[in-house]
Amino acid sequence: MEHILENIKRIRESQKITQAVIGEKLGISRVQYTNIESGITSLTMDRMQDIAEILGVEVSQLMDKPSAKVISFANRKGGVGKSTMTILFSVALSNWTDYKVLVIDTDSQSTVASLADEESDLGMDIIPFNFDESHTPIRDFLKIIEKKSKEYDLILIDTQGSFADGQAINTILSVSDICIIPIQATKPAIQSTLTTLVSLPEISEGRREEGKSFLALGIVNQRTRTNEHKIVKDLDGQFGMKVLDNALSNLVRYHREMSLSKPICEKEDDDEFVELFRELVKEIGL
Ligand SMILES: Nc1ncnc2c1ncn2[C@@H]1O[C@H](COP(=O)(O)OP(=O)(O)OP(=O)(O)O)[C@@H](O)[C@H]1O
Ligand SMILES: [Mg+2]
Repeated sequence: MEHILENIKRIRESQKITQAVIGEKLGISRVQYTNIESGITSLTMDRMQDIAEILGVEVSQLMDKPSAKVISFANRKGGVGKSTMTILFSVALSNWTDYKVLVIDTDSQSTVASLADEESDLGMDIIPFNFDESHTPIRDFLKIIEKKSKEYDLILIDTQGSFADGQAINTILSVSDICIIPIQATKPAIQSTLTTLVSLPEISEGRREEGKSFLALGIVNQRTRTNEHKIVKDLDGQFGMKVLDNALSNLVRYHREMSLSKPICEKEDDDEFVELFRELVKEIGL
């Protein structure tokens, strides 16, 4: 039921129709309509049909479960923390929120998937997908996304740096609502990161044409002090990427204590990861 009301609100807002206008067309007051949309007054089948007609959509569209938000972790530079961040955020999201989380591991090293084999009781699902092992990888991948989007709230995708061509990574980005780019703020690492960043505006434009949003967020990983501040500042806003204020330090726990069943710390802790998690959730609008 809740998602029906969310669908109504989302479609109404995307068409820039106010609650008052819908109320008027239904022959009720704005307040009465607001009460329906916020779940205070229950929505009858007749009302739902009327609302669908006003919005110019099928009733089935109002009943559709909203698609999952797809969050990919990408950087063509290797070893910057894509898999590490995929693990940290998927575990935190599945443990600290009510969202149903799926991780797709497209990294041929299967960093995430192999960790999953060692543990039980995961609060999320993990599937491997290897772009090199299928004859029609792009079609197969898109099919999986379409199917899984209906079953999960959030889909996190770990990518590999060394995809032979840009096709795989561009396909992943094109289905992503949010792309997270781990950044190592050293001059040589930034050079290779730029090859990822240059493709972002085209991805964003392509998605906009389909009426879909795209948000690129940079997160500094293995923060050091030397000279970094200026490098990061220069990157913020480049190619549409926003660099988050919070970062991850270079800590042994991100290397040796990674787990898919237990977050790296408690949600209430005074901890850099909690700060980063909060900022990310706010940016993404979860
Ligand atoms: N903040 C951190 N502190 C300490 N070690 C880290 C941190 N982030 C990543 N590492 C370590 O650095 C290495 C590379 O990280 P990771 O595997 O996440 O990078 P990647 O971008 O997924 O690499 P690839 O491109 O090979 O897939 C790993 O051994 C990981 O444990
Ligand atoms: Mg990796």
